Amino acid sequence: MTATGLPMEVPAEGLPTRVRIHEVGARDGLQNEQTVVATEIKAEFIHRLAAAGLPLVEATSFVHPKWVPQLADAEQLFPQLGDLDPHRLPVLVPNERGLDRALALGARRIAVFASATESFAQANLNRTVDAALAMFAPVVARAKDAKVHVRGYLSMCFGDPWEGPVPVAQTVRVCRELLDLGCDELSLGDTIGVATPGHVQHLLAALNEAGVPTSRLGVHFHDTYGQALANTFAALQHGVTTIDASAGGLGGCPYAKSATGNLATEDLVWMLHGLGIETGVDLGRLTATSAWMAEVLGRPSPSRTLRALSHKE
Ligand code: HMG
Ligand code: MG
Repeated sequence: MTATGLPMEVPAEGLPTRVRIHEVGARDGLQNEQTVVATEIKAEFIHRLAAAGLPLVEATSFVHPKWVPQLADAEQLFPQLGDLDPHRLPVLVPNERGLDRALALGARRIAVFASATESFAQANLNRTVDAALAMFAPVVARAKDAKVHVRGYLSMCFGDPWEGPVPVAQTVRVCRELLDLGCDELSLGDTIGVATPGHVQHLLAALNEAGVPTSRLGVHFHDTYGQALANTFAALQHGVTTIDASAGGLGGCPYAKSATGNLATEDLVWMLHGLGIETGVDLGRLTATSAWMAEVLGRPSPSRTLRALSHKE
């Protein structure tokens, strides 16, 4: 670390010059926390993340409140973000009911969320993989008509807690289906954090071979086995420029008890800035925000960078 609390900048060959971080802490992070955070605190969290320069701050989900009680306040929260550009505030929408709720509040960027495996499709959406895709079809079509940007998440792209390793061809098949529905971009989820860098590059190459350009792919790593940054570096080498991360490493995965949550945004920014890759993020403002949220939740953040910077003085 340098005296400024910033990494020394030493670029590596063949990497993108700019990366867009898709911040998921307020959604993927808070949905997995035991504590239900007050709506006003969530609004402050999202405002502070946006002010720290994160271009996209996923705000909430319009799902069934019984399935995710932590995000049951979407109707109250979204209007409190009215001063932010809704194009910067993606929201999750599983079905037409969710889309109606999101559109009524002025959402301009939505995400549907599929699974590469049957087990997780059942656990998360109460349907088979194909029935879930059929549920998304009218959602994506209506969103596109309304000129709303659509992300397609795909969970369990590498491994599944019930089914074990997931064949690459199986993941590629569902990715293709999501794109054929009209999704603008995909986010490849390593939901339980079992991927390793070679697997990441193999999947990305297989997707390219299946006609999916890298420019439409983002990556969404969880850090259960400490591989999230290594996997991110592998994706960068492949040319991926959209990377999901969660402020302070918030969250976990209800289906993998040891999962430590998403890749922490601070750890990602430290690596990217060290590589000389632009993100637009102010690391100091981001760490102050995550430190504050850790206090709200009453538990220390798993982010190594956040811990290191907090103990700097
Ligand atoms: P279901 O029970 O099959 O729903 O759940 P249904 O269609 O049979 O409807 C049952 C009732 O729910 C009806 O009410 C509907 O109106 C209502 P009733 O008539 O009985 O009074 N309902 C809704 N209410 C509010 N908003 C809605 C909605 N839809 C139906 N949108 C459903 C199906 C999809 C709704 C349910 O399974 C669900 O909400 N799942 C959400 C699960 C979730 O949010 N998981 C976390 C996100 S995925 C993730 O985190 C992974 C990711 O981070 C990537 C990675 O890491 O891999 C993205
Ligand atoms: Mg996730």
